[in-house]
Amino acid sequence: MPKGRFITLEGGEGVGKSTNLRFITDWMRERDIDFIQTREPGGTPLAEQLRALLLENREESVDPTAELLMVFAARAQHLAQVIRPALARGAWVICDRFTDATYAYQGGGRGLDRGLIAQLEQTVQGDLRPDRVLLLDLDPEIGLSRAAETGAADRFESEKLGFFHKVRDAYLARAAAAPDRYAVVNAARPLDEVQQRLAVELESLLKHP
Ligand SMILES: Nc1ncnc2c1ncn2[C@@H]1O[C@H](COP(=O)(O)OP(=O)(O)OP(=O)(O)O)[C@@H](O)[C@H]1O
Ligand SMILES: [Mg+2]
Repeated sequence: MPKGRFITLEGGEGVGKSTNLRFITDWMRERDIDFIQTREPGGTPLAEQLRALLLENREESVDPTAELLMVFAARAQHLAQVIRPALARGAWVICDRFTDATYAYQGGGRGLDRGLIAQLEQTVQGDLRPDRVLLLDLDPEIGLSRAAETGAADRFESEKLGFFHKVRDAYLARAAAAPDRYAVVNAARPLDEVQQRLAVELESLLKHP
Protein backbone atom coordinates (compact mmCIF):
# COMPACT_ATOMS: atom_id res chain seq x y z
CA MET A 1 0.00 0.00 0.00
CA PRO A 2 1.33 3.48 -0.84
CA LYS A 3 2.27 5.59 2.13
CA GLY A 4 0.21 8.74 2.58
CA ARG A 5 1.51 12.09 3.72
CA PHE A 6 0.01 14.43 6.25
CA ILE A 7 0.59 18.01 5.16
CA THR A 8 -0.73 21.10 6.89
CA LEU A 9 -0.93 24.66 5.64
CA GLU A 10 -0.45 27.24 8.34
CA GLY A 11 -0.21 30.97 8.84
CA GLY A 12 -2.18 33.95 10.07
CA GLU A 13 -5.14 35.70 8.50
CA GLY A 14 -4.99 36.35 4.78
CA VAL A 15 -1.55 34.81 4.18
CA GLY A 16 -2.94 32.80 1.25
CA LYS A 17 -3.76 29.39 2.76
CA SER A 18 -7.00 28.87 0.81
CA THR A 19 -5.47 30.21 -2.40
CA ASN A 20 -2.48 27.89 -2.18
CA LEU A 21 -4.58 24.93 -1.11
CA ARG A 22 -6.09 25.02 -4.59
CA PHE A 23 -2.60 25.05 -6.11
CA ILE A 24 -1.56 22.06 -3.97
CA THR A 25 -4.63 19.99 -4.82
CA ASP A 26 -4.09 20.72 -8.54
CA TRP A 27 -0.48 19.55 -8.11
CA MET A 28 -1.70 16.27 -6.54
CA ARG A 29 -4.38 15.72 -9.17
CA GLU A 30 -1.77 16.11 -11.94
CA ARG A 31 0.22 13.30 -10.31
CA ASP A 32 -2.80 11.03 -9.70
CA ILE A 33 -2.15 11.13 -5.98
CA ASP A 34 -5.00 9.83 -3.82
CA PHE A 35 -5.66 12.74 -1.45
CA ILE A 36 -8.25 14.47 0.67
CA GLN A 37 -8.47 18.18 1.31
CA THR A 38 -9.82 19.35 4.62
CA ARG A 39 -9.59 22.13 7.21
CA GLU A 40 -9.54 22.95 10.88
CA PRO A 41 -11.39 23.71 12.93
CA GLY A 42 -13.88 21.61 10.98
CA GLY A 43 -13.77 18.83 8.44
CA THR A 44 -16.81 16.86 9.70
CA PRO A 45 -20.39 18.07 10.28
CA LEU A 46 -19.91 18.14 14.07
CA ALA A 47 -16.47 19.76 13.84
CA GLU A 48 -17.84 22.36 11.41
CA GLN A 49 -20.53 23.20 13.97
CA LEU A 50 -17.81 23.68 16.57
CA ARG A 51 -15.96 25.88 14.06
CA ALA A 52 -19.02 28.07 13.63
CA LEU A 53 -19.32 28.39 17.43
CA LEU A 54 -15.62 29.31 17.67
CA LEU A 55 -15.67 31.93 14.91
CA GLU A 56 -19.01 33.58 15.66
CA ASN A 57 -18.82 37.07 17.12
CA ARG A 58 -20.63 37.08 20.46
CA GLU A 59 -21.40 39.35 23.41
CA GLU A 60 -20.15 36.80 25.95
CA SER A 61 -16.38 36.77 26.28
CA VAL A 62 -14.97 33.32 25.57
CA ASP A 63 -12.76 31.78 28.21
CA PRO A 64 -9.42 30.84 26.56
CA THR A 65 -9.45 27.35 28.07
CA ALA A 66 -13.00 26.80 26.81
CA GLU A 67 -11.80 27.90 23.38
CA LEU A 68 -8.84 25.53 23.55
CA LEU A 69 -11.02 22.56 24.51
CA MET A 70 -13.46 23.28 21.69
CA VAL A 71 -10.57 23.33 19.22
CA PHE A 72 -9.35 19.95 20.46
CA ALA A 73 -12.90 18.52 20.60
CA ALA A 74 -13.28 19.38 16.92
CA ARG A 75 -9.83 17.91 16.21
CA ALA A 76 -10.60 14.61 17.94
CA GLN A 77 -13.72 14.21 15.81
CA HIS A 78 -11.89 15.21 12.63
CA LEU A 79 -9.05 12.77 13.28
CA ALA A 80 -11.42 9.89 14.03
CA GLN A 81 -13.79 10.46 11.13
CA VAL A 82 -11.58 11.82 8.37
CA ILE A 83 -7.82 12.14 8.86
CA ARG A 84 -6.90 8.75 10.34
CA PRO A 85 -9.06 6.75 7.91
CA ALA A 86 -7.53 8.62 4.94
CA LEU A 87 -3.95 8.06 6.12
CA ALA A 88 -4.77 4.41 6.88
CA ARG A 89 -5.75 3.80 3.26
CA GLY A 90 -2.53 5.47 2.05
CA ALA A 91 -4.07 8.78 0.95
CA TRP A 92 -2.37 12.13 1.35
CA VAL A 93 -4.11 14.59 3.62
CA ILE A 94 -3.79 18.31 3.03
CA CYS A 95 -5.29 20.31 5.87
CA ASP A 96 -5.86 24.07 6.06
CA ARG A 97 -4.62 24.67 9.63
CA PHE A 98 -3.97 22.08 12.35
CA THR A 99 -2.35 21.94 15.79
CA ASP A 100 0.33 24.51 14.97
CA ALA A 101 -2.55 26.98 14.75
CA THR A 102 -3.52 26.02 18.30
CA TYR A 103 0.01 26.74 19.53
CA ALA A 104 -0.06 30.02 17.58
CA TYR A 105 -3.56 31.32 18.40
CA GLN A 106 -4.41 29.80 21.77
CA GLY A 107 -0.75 29.60 22.91
CA GLY A 108 0.79 32.72 21.36
CA GLY A 109 -2.30 34.88 20.87
CA ARG A 110 -4.26 33.99 24.02
CA GLY A 111 -1.20 33.23 26.16
CA LEU A 112 -2.27 29.73 27.25
CA ASP A 113 0.36 27.40 28.67
CA ARG A 114 2.21 25.47 25.95
CA GLY A 115 2.53 22.48 28.28
CA LEU A 116 -1.26 22.24 28.52
CA ILE A 117 -1.55 22.38 24.72
CA ALA A 118 1.12 19.67 24.43
CA GLN A 119 -0.82 17.45 26.85
CA LEU A 120 -4.01 17.78 24.86
CA GLU A 121 -2.08 17.23 21.63
CA GLN A 122 -0.74 13.95 22.99
CA THR A 123 -4.14 12.85 24.30
CA VAL A 124 -6.01 13.64 21.10
CA GLN A 125 -3.38 12.77 18.50
CA GLY A 126 -1.19 10.19 20.18
CA ASP A 127 2.00 10.26 18.14
CA LEU A 128 0.38 11.57 14.97
CA ARG A 129 2.03 14.78 13.75
CA PRO A 130 2.06 16.35 10.30
CA ASP A 131 4.83 15.08 8.02
CA ARG A 132 5.36 18.60 6.76
CA VAL A 133 4.01 21.98 7.84
CA LEU A 134 3.90 24.59 5.10
CA LEU A 135 4.01 27.87 7.01
CA LEU A 136 3.04 30.94 5.00
CA ASP A 137 4.69 33.80 6.80
CA LEU A 138 3.52 37.38 6.38
CA ASP A 139 3.41 40.66 8.26
CA PRO A 140 -0.04 40.56 9.92
CA GLU A 141 -0.85 44.07 8.74
CA ILE A 142 -0.60 42.92 5.13
CA GLY A 143 -2.46 39.68 5.86
CA LEU A 144 -5.33 41.44 7.62
CA SER A 145 -5.70 43.92 4.78
CA ARG A 146 -5.81 41.02 2.29
CA ALA A 147 -8.36 39.16 4.44
CA ALA A 148 -10.50 42.28 4.88
CA GLU A 149 -11.34 42.16 1.18
CA THR A 150 -13.02 38.76 1.57
CA GLY A 151 -15.90 39.48 3.97
CA ALA A 152 -16.80 40.54 7.51
CA ALA A 153 -14.33 39.95 10.36
CA ASP A 154 -14.96 36.84 12.48
CA ARG A 155 -14.23 36.60 16.23
CA PHE A 156 -10.49 36.04 15.62
CA GLU A 157 -10.13 38.60 12.85
CA SER A 158 -11.66 41.15 15.24
CA GLU A 159 -8.61 40.89 17.52
CA LYS A 160 -6.10 43.73 17.72
CA LEU A 161 -2.88 43.80 15.70
CA GLY A 162 -0.76 42.84 18.74
CA PHE A 163 -2.61 39.52 18.92
CA PHE A 164 -1.58 38.68 15.35
CA HIS A 165 2.04 39.60 15.97
CA LYS A 166 2.04 37.10 18.84
CA VAL A 167 0.44 34.51 16.55
CA ARG A 168 3.12 35.06 13.91
CA ASP A 169 5.95 34.91 16.46
CA ALA A 170 4.59 31.65 17.89
CA TYR A 171 4.40 30.08 14.43
CA LEU A 172 7.98 31.14 13.63
CA ALA A 173 9.24 29.83 16.96
CA ARG A 174 7.64 26.43 16.27
CA ALA A 175 9.27 26.32 12.84
CA ALA A 176 12.67 27.33 14.21
CA ALA A 177 12.51 24.56 16.81
CA ALA A 178 11.94 21.80 14.22
CA PRO A 179 13.30 23.05 10.88
CA ASP A 180 13.10 19.59 9.24
CA ARG A 181 9.33 19.44 9.54
CA TYR A 182 8.56 23.05 8.60
CA ALA A 183 8.89 24.97 5.39
CA VAL A 184 8.66 28.69 6.07
CA VAL A 185 7.48 30.40 2.92
CA ASN A 186 7.62 34.17 2.48
CA ALA A 187 3.98 34.93 1.65
CA ALA A 188 4.74 38.56 0.85
CA ARG A 189 6.23 37.41 -2.46
CA PRO A 190 4.08 37.27 -5.61
CA LEU A 191 1.80 34.25 -5.76
CA ASP A 192 3.69 32.45 -8.54
CA GLU A 193 6.89 32.66 -6.52
CA VAL A 194 5.12 31.32 -3.41
CA GLN A 195 3.78 28.44 -5.47
CA GLN A 196 7.15 27.60 -7.01
CA ARG A 197 8.46 27.28 -3.48
CA LEU A 198 5.54 25.08 -2.43
CA ALA A 199 6.09 22.86 -5.47
CA VAL A 200 9.71 22.27 -4.40
CA GLU A 201 8.49 21.19 -0.96
CA LEU A 202 5.88 18.87 -2.45
CA GLU A 203 8.40 17.27 -4.83
CA SER A 204 10.71 16.60 -1.92
CA LEU A 205 7.87 15.03 0.07
CA LEU A 206 7.02 12.83 -2.90
CA LYS A 207 10.62 11.61 -3.16
CA HIS A 208 11.35 11.28 0.55
CA PRO A 209 8.33 10.09 2.50
N1 LIG B 1 1.24 35.95 -2.59
C1 LIG B 1 0.17 36.75 -2.66
N2 LIG B 1 0.30 38.02 -3.07
C2 LIG B 1 -0.78 38.83 -3.13
N3 LIG B 1 -2.04 38.49 -2.79
C3 LIG B 1 -2.23 37.23 -2.37
C4 LIG B 1 -1.15 36.30 -2.28
N4 LIG B 1 -1.64 35.12 -1.80
C5 LIG B 1 -2.96 35.32 -1.63
N5 LIG B 1 -3.32 36.58 -1.96
C6 LIG B 1 -4.68 37.18 -1.86
O1 LIG B 1 -4.92 37.42 -0.49
C7 LIG B 1 -6.30 37.21 -0.18
C8 LIG B 1 -6.40 36.24 0.98
O2 LIG B 1 -5.98 34.95 0.54
P1 LIG B 1 -6.59 33.62 1.15
O3 LIG B 1 -8.05 33.74 1.34
O4 LIG B 1 -6.05 32.50 0.35
O5 LIG B 1 -5.87 33.63 2.59
P2 LIG B 1 -6.14 32.69 3.84
O6 LIG B 1 -4.81 32.48 4.46
O7 LIG B 1 -6.93 31.51 3.43
O8 LIG B 1 -7.02 33.66 4.73
P3 LIG B 1 -7.95 33.27 6.00
O9 LIG B 1 -7.03 33.22 7.16
O10 LIG B 1 -8.88 34.44 6.08
O11 LIG B 1 -8.62 31.97 5.68
C9 LIG B 1 -6.97 36.71 -1.46
O12 LIG B 1 -7.61 37.80 -2.05
C10 LIG B 1 -5.78 36.23 -2.30
O13 LIG B 1 -6.04 36.35 -3.67
MG1 LIG C 1 -8.68 30.63 4.17
